[in-house]
Amino acid sequence: MPTVNDIRSAFLNYFAKNDHAVVPSSPLVPRNDPTLMFVNSGMVQFKNVFTGVETRDYSRATTAQKCVRAGGKHNDLDNVGYTARHHTFFEMMGNFSFGDYFKEQAIPFAWEMVTKELDIPADKLLVTVFHTDDEAADLWKKVAGLPDERIIRIPTSDNFWMMGPTGPCGPCSEIFYDHGDHIWGGPPGSPEEDGDRFVEIWNLVFMQHEQFEDGTRTDLPRPSIDTGMGIERVAALLQGTNDNYGTDLMRSLILASADATSTDPDGTGRVHHRVIADHLRSTSFLLADGVMPSNDGRGYVLRRIMRRAMRHAHLLGAKDPLMYRLVPALVRQMGAAYPELTRAQALIEETLKLEETRFKQTLDRGLKLLDDELDLLPDGANLPGEAAFKLYDTYGFPLDLTQDALREKGRAVDTDGFDKAMEEQKAKARAAWAGSGETADATVWFDVADKHGATDFLGYETETAEGQIVALVEGGALVDKAQKGATVQIALNQTPFYGESGGQVGDTGIIRTEGGVAKVTDTRKTAGVFIHFAEVTEGSIATGDAAALEVDHARRTAIRANHSATHLLHEALREALGDHVAQRGSLNAADRLRFDFSHTRAVTAEELARVERDVNAFIRQNAPVETRIMAPDDARELGAQALFGEKYGDEVRVVSMGILPGSGKGADKQTYSLELCGGTHVRQTGDIGAFVALGDSASSAGVRRIEALTGQAALDYLAGQGAKLAETASVLKSSVAEVPERVKALMDERKALAAEVAQLRRELAMSGGGAAAPEAKEIGGVPFLAQVLTGVTGKDLPPLVDEHKTRLGTGAVLLIADVDGKAAVAAGVTADLKGKVSAVDLVRAAVEKLGGKGGGGRPDMAQGGGPDASAAPEAIAAAESILGEK
Ligand code: ALA
Repeated sequence: MPTVNDIRSAFLNYFAKNDHAVVPSSPLVPRNDPTLMFVNSGMVQFKNVFTGVETRDYSRATTAQKCVRAGGKHNDLDNVGYTARHHTFFEMMGNFSFGDYFKEQAIPFAWEMVTKELDIPADKLLVTVFHTDDEAADLWKKVAGLPDERIIRIPTSDNFWMMGPTGPCGPCSEIFYDHGDHIWGGPPGSPEEDGDRFVEIWNLVFMQHEQFEDGTRTDLPRPSIDTGMGIERVAALLQGTNDNYGTDLMRSLILASADATSTDPDGTGRVHHRVIADHLRSTSFLLADGVMPSNDGRGYVLRRIMRRAMRHAHLLGAKDPLMYRLVPALVRQMGAAYPELTRAQALIEETLKLEETRFKQTLDRGLKLLDDELDLLPDGANLPGEAAFKLYDTYGFPLDLTQDALREKGRAVDTDGFDKAMEEQKAKARAAWAGSGETADATVWFDVADKHGATDFLGYETETAEGQIVALVEGGALVDKAQKGATVQIALNQTPFYGESGGQVGDTGIIRTEGGVAKVTDTRKTAGVFIHFAEVTEGSIATGDAAALEVDHARRTAIRANHSATHLLHEALREALGDHVAQRGSLNAADRLRFDFSHTRAVTAEELARVERDVNAFIRQNAPVETRIMAPDDARELGAQALFGEKYGDEVRVVSMGILPGSGKGADKQTYSLELCGGTHVRQTGDIGAFVALGDSASSAGVRRIEALTGQAALDYLAGQGAKLAETASVLKSSVAEVPERVKALMDERKALAAEVAQLRRELAMSGGGAAAPEAKEIGGVPFLAQVLTGVTGKDLPPLVDEHKTRLGTGAVLLIADVDGKAAVAAGVTADLKGKVSAVDLVRAAVEKLGGKGGGGRPDMAQGGGPDASAAPEAIAAAESILGEK
């Protein structure tokens, strides 16, 4: 009996043998579609290849594609668990032709695959075709030899396949398997077609058109083929059951659930196990593809699925979180075919555990409230919307969870009442917000948030995606359309552009629609809406347009490197300076990073060198950067660095990077840097390239600031420094290695020369500037020598005064230096005249004439200065008159 894994391999091998490229499944979050919530069929990743927008180097492909149908056009959530064939997650096997072969080959391939490779008896098969498609009917007759009554013509949209409201589409032909008359049901097109007897196993779509928003269709450049075979259904019939949940793969998950809860897999908990098995697959695969539980968009669909499963776990009597314990069973079954599941195992387990732990806190009370409400109601009455809303708002019960709980009791929810209560709450939040003093400008974005919900951010996983313009603002007001030259703000339903926050600058890039191009110069966030600040550079763009979004990759790469380096820097500073180091601010731009942190003194050159060395060592370690989602308290308990005073939500992203050397492998390894962070980061620390700190400065009291460069900017900076050094060496006519020595020698030489010049100046001054040394004259019985000097500074005067004093033996000296028109004065009096004449008096008298004030020192030596050297004769005369008075 072939297992699911055998069937998958057989399918891919068959088409590989027939020249099809085996292409991996795309992630569940579509990058190439503006409106689709999740990838819901194999052709989604090839959408643009069908329409001719994109080309690949193959024209035939085959895939096993992960699909989720739990939101949007194809939504199976409500039925899962209760039926044999509904899933939120399933695998679709497909073969594709991009203008290569068409019906004439698609039909023989399918027939051979089904009847030869999978060995399904031909007499159990029947097919449908679109009622006007004679060509397909003839081919089935010819290739498969099917009689007319087993080629059923269907006139309805059942046999016209569309991916969603827009996109490639075409008539289709489906292969059905007849499980036999022991099961109720009729062939397709009959009144009993909804029974379980005839099961569709493979859909062949003859892709011929592209459908647009306004309902019009064009022909594709070349007719193509898209097929989809549900692997679960085929496995079921090959394994002798008509229940997808009876297949080896699903059964192993059901048994894991039964085992973990010590319950009977087929007893009263049968539906619970089925729900759990299905939801385990969708939640795990969504988490592996980067969707995180949240209260909006895709994250909310994920949360709804999780909580639905958790209620069923609760109904099985599970006291502790259950879902995360089943992940290993899933990884065993599907990890080989989908390696991303294995890679994300830890993240999936942690996230499920966290969600379940938290939800359990309110689940009991919510269920009790639900029972109490039901007790009050008359038999069979619907649950009032208000009660459902209270369950939603207070106990975290998504509406579909409440509906699921009521389904077992044969009741429903008054959904209109629920919607009304929801509206009222929004209006209240809006009123509260309006009073909070935010700028009026933001009002429009609050309206957008109200109407369209928060923007789904795809930028952790991708830098290109398609989105749909939900709002366009020009000059502060919503507009429908904006023309070339307009400065606008654009909001989309989803975006890979990072909105400025947490110190990381907003992304820039290009938004292209069919009618125009806008250049995004910045992205910011208001009320959960990502606002793209842009200029329309070509044509025009309009609300409702589908848009191709492309982040400036080089710039984002540099920003990532700077942001990740900031985390390493933070930890390196804590290691070097102590645990008191805490982040006080940061900037992660494309050209540099800036990190402010608490520390009271300057960082020494040695400390900075150590920090730089450490950061670079972890860059070279090239360890993967990992992101996990946790409750803030758990993250802090793990030792994650959080921003002081920052408000965190229920769940936080925890970014870890670097492995402490010697801390062991696997579970033992210890992370170097662990921070709560919503930013975008490098994949491996090696992507940072290099780190250079530009220095430390004071930012504010008790806060230091380090600026640094990474990657090419760091290398450019170092190259610039090197060039300057080389230039210095060339000026010095030395090698670079000799520069420090040469500069030191030059400095020493300069010092010696300066001393020599000073000495020479003094000597020159003593000798009267080349003229004869002045003579002292007697005034009031005191020998007095006065002289005006040029070419000396104030500093030179005291030693000169001393020399004159020695030469005179007894007497007073007054020297005035003319320094570029200003005067410096020094006076000296020999010791024997102490008490008779004071140098201070002489200086003060001179200074006054020189236009200055004061002057001072000791009686034997005093100094001063004034602005006007031209008054030197009057200054000397003033000093003389003091002596004359003695
Ligand atoms: N895209 C087609 C489907 O999903 C094959 O049924």
